[in-house]
Amino acid sequence: MLVVALWAIAATSAGAQTEDDERVRQGEGIFQQICATCHTIGGGVRVGPDLRGVTERREESWLKVHIQSPSIQRAQNDPIALANVEKFGMPMPDLGLTEQQVEAVIAYLGTGETAPVARPALYIPTLAIGVLAIVGLTLIGIVVGTKRVEVRP
Ligand code: HEC
Repeated sequence: MLVVALWAIAATSAGAQTEDDERVRQGEGIFQQICATCHTIGGGVRVGPDLRGVTERREESWLKVHIQSPSIQRAQNDPIALANVEKFGMPMPDLGLTEQQVEAVIAYLGTGETAPVARPALYIPTLAIGVLAIVGLTLIGIVVGTKRVEVRP
């Protein structure tokens, strides 16, 4: 009986853990796709502030509104949002995330994981096209530039 109870507890907490983990990974994906253009986590200011420790310096309810729709805070003269705009020289745009996406990003920001630079994977297509162009041009150069030289005996 005890064993069954323990097993049940372990199974539920494991289930909850993977669910949380899924949310964090979803949040990481959203961060890399949308936020990393303007923000780092632990890599310094990019367009907007470094988001390292942001879940500690701001209230969760404030973060929710700010990430979903920062224009609402500006319209309400929220002092933190207005100070941010002044400091960074531009307002953060409304990104149109769903509430669930916003919660996932906040869960990711709360893990303390860092994201100092945008994923190199984002640059791979550009890099591949560059390399292909160079190889292609070289091949064309070789074909066009080859000159037959007859050597008479
Ligand atoms: C186009 C650039 C841009 C994008 C994309 C962007 N932000 Fe911002 N963000 C800013 C700027 C600029 C500020 C500072 C001005 C302000 O708060 O409006 C800011 C401020 C913030 C703040 C407040 C930080 C603090 O210390 O008060 C948080 C939190 C934030 N952004 C989270 C996010 C998240 C999460 C995403 C992705 C879903 C995101 N941002 C996408 C430009 C951007």
